[in-house]
Amino acid sequence: GLGRAILDAYLKKDEFEIIGISRTVLGLENPKLTEVSLDLGDLDALENDLVSLFPQGEFDEVILINNAGWIGEIKVVGSLQIRMMREHVNINLLAPMLMTNAFVAAYKDSTAKKIICNISSGAATKPMEGWSKYCSTKAAIAMFTKVAAKENSTSQFRFFSVAPGIVDTQMQHEIRLADGLDFPEIERFKSYKENGDLSTPESVASKISYLLANESEFEEVIQDVRNFDLPD
Ligand SMILES: NC(=O)c1ccc[n+]([C@@H]2O[C@H](COP(=O)([O-])OP(=O)(O)OC[C@H]3O[C@@H](n4cnc5c(N)ncnc54)[C@H](OP(=O)(O)O)[C@@H]3O)[C@@H](O)[C@H]2O)c1
Repeated sequence: GLGRAILDAYLKKDEFEIIGISRTVLGLENPKLTEVSLDLGDLDALENDLVSLFPQGEFDEVILINNAGWIGEIKVVGSLQIRMMREHVNINLLAPMLMTNAFVAAYKDSTAKKIICNISSGAATKPMEGWSKYCSTKAAIAMFTKVAAKENSTSQFRFFSVAPGIVDTQMQHEIRLADGLDFPEIERFKSYKENGDLSTPESVASKISYLLANESEFEEVIQDVRNFDLPD
């Protein structure tokens, strides 16, 4: 999905070394990439690995991108499964909170330029029937990011909560498979795909990497890639 496209965008930048976390191991033979296989729904495992994820050293710049996310089961409130609710909050909210907290602790004394980019969603501000867990966790990570930015307003940290638009990934595929009774807006999402209205992960990754490379052009914490174009 978008994470793979962001990875590919940064692999093209010679100056970056990348630590990529997901459950899947891509097995890319690239000396600039360290792959870490981790289930971000398992917070105990994440906590054990946290410190080692953020290497110490003399860096010009360090960037944390919390991209992993999950639409989860699309069901109305009253029929949500507790186990799914717990896992959802772990992946979409607690894991990026833990990562952000550990990143700030690891680099607070570093003279490097320091950027945190938490991938949120337009759903953070738009209630969608069937998406209560998703909308609320995305709203929460956006607010968490705003608070952290306020706390660090005089530091060298920059914080962004970025909505990527509607992107042609597995997540959109899962959304189109939902039950229309739980998700009345399903036809609109099917039409995005049929009409070719979805962004490609590559185009969104280019915008995110532009934003992070030109962070001084972007004043606000809350950003939406649909609100700016790449320069020609
Ligand atoms: N697609 C959209 O239209 C859209 C719109 C708004 C916001 N977003 C946000 O954009 C981000 C990327 O979404 P996407 O569309 O690319 O979704 P996707 O295709 O479903 O990819 C999800 C990504 O998250 C990782 N992930 C999921 N569960 C994980 C877990 N338990 N532990 C570790 N990694 C996990 C997956 O890797 P593994 O499966 O290998 O673990 C994969 O890299 C998400 O935060 C999503 O909420 C997407």
